[in-house]
Amino acid sequence: MRMYDILAKKRDGGILTDEEIQFFIDGYVSGAIPDYQASALLMAIFLKGMTPHETAALTRSMAQSGDLVDLSSIDGIKVDKHSTGGVGDKTTLIVAPVVASLGVRVAKMSGRGLGHTGGTVDKLESIPGFRTTLDREAFFDVVRRVGVSVIGQSGNLAPADKKLYALRDVTATVNSIPLIASSIMSKKIAAGSDRILLDVKTGSGAFMKTLEDSIALAKEMVSIGEHVGRRTVALITDMDRPLGCAIGNALEVREACETLQGRGPADLTEVCIELAANMLWLAEKGELAQCRSLARQQIANGEAFAKLKEMVQAQGGDTSVLDDPEKFAPPNVCYEVLAQREGFLYAMDTEKCGIASVELGAGREKKEDPIDYSAGIVLRKKVGDFVRKGEVLASFYSSEESKCRTAEQTFTQALRIQDARPEQTALIHTRV
Ligand code: URA
Repeated sequence: MRMYDILAKKRDGGILTDEEIQFFIDGYVSGAIPDYQASALLMAIFLKGMTPHETAALTRSMAQSGDLVDLSSIDGIKVDKHSTGGVGDKTTLIVAPVVASLGVRVAKMSGRGLGHTGGTVDKLESIPGFRTTLDREAFFDVVRRVGVSVIGQSGNLAPADKKLYALRDVTATVNSIPLIASSIMSKKIAAGSDRILLDVKTGSGAFMKTLEDSIALAKEMVSIGEHVGRRTVALITDMDRPLGCAIGNALEVREACETLQGRGPADLTEVCIELAANMLWLAEKGELAQCRSLARQQIANGEAFAKLKEMVQAQGGDTSVLDDPEKFAPPNVCYEVLAQREGFLYAMDTEKCGIASVELGAGREKKEDPIDYSAGIVLRKKVGDFVRKGEVLASFYSSEESKCRTAEQTFTQALRIQDARPEQTALIHTRV
């Protein structure tokens, strides 16, 4: 078999066999196939697409390229959750403890921020002492004792995805349905949970900008999951506005704690209840309506917040910052962004809001950049709110005022203030 022939076949719109896909993945992971040939194949896939069968074969080969986590020694149904990435998306910090407080085991491997989107591992690392790297035994031990553990992806989980993702990032081949579906599902399958809930984001802050593409991506991923015997459900949720008010690591941990104590923003609370209810449903805890009530109950009775604290303690984190977020290291600079005109906040380009938070220091411009955990944005106005000229639209937190000024330009370009009130749009679009 020759990589050249595989490239020519996909370039001409052909359908690759399982063996050709396996040959590519094996060769790329071992180093026998160079980056330039892998890049050419990614671009051919981007342009010509893949059949559902090809996407499933690619996913399988990528999942099997490294360790397959075996969670069978942990009792009960293990349910995983994955978001396709968004701005202000701190749902894992809320949803995982909610379901774990009802006895559903969550053994979750999360990612770091990617581009304009935040990552759960970075958010958790803003808690002093919190360890996101645990060896297999320690990880299993926390899941058994506490019911939930969230760690970073272990080095050898789907290494094919790790290499391919880095290449896609620099070859303009990220936004492809078969490539995103195989990337996400290979990691979920390798991570070993029995059931999978996918939160497919849609809108200006998501990788998939249209509802149609988001539904197509969700269907592809659900079909891959079901094909390999993992019950999978996808919710399409809105990312045409940041989720909640906080964007940035410690700020988001703080907002997650407030939400777990029943004081969170309405949009974030609604999305989290729906995600948690679907995870509970997957774990066979009852009908969806019943599962929603259970999720609300765990927030109201404080058990979900207590579960988060238990997990943080088990992973070496300082729980005092969860009770009193004023104990987080404060930012050097607080800066207010004021409205330049009066009107309704009509729309926010959510990707630009994410970029503004990266400019403040909350994310990485380059892979090796350090993160400023205290940096980020707190929105004082949300889409649909009326603002008066001179009113505070958002508070920025950063290490330097110059970063605030740069981020202000990006942020103000993201906003549309108009005389007309925007129509209310759904937060949860559909379920696949
Ligand atoms: N998240 C992933 O893990 N992979 C993608 O391709 C996109 C988002």
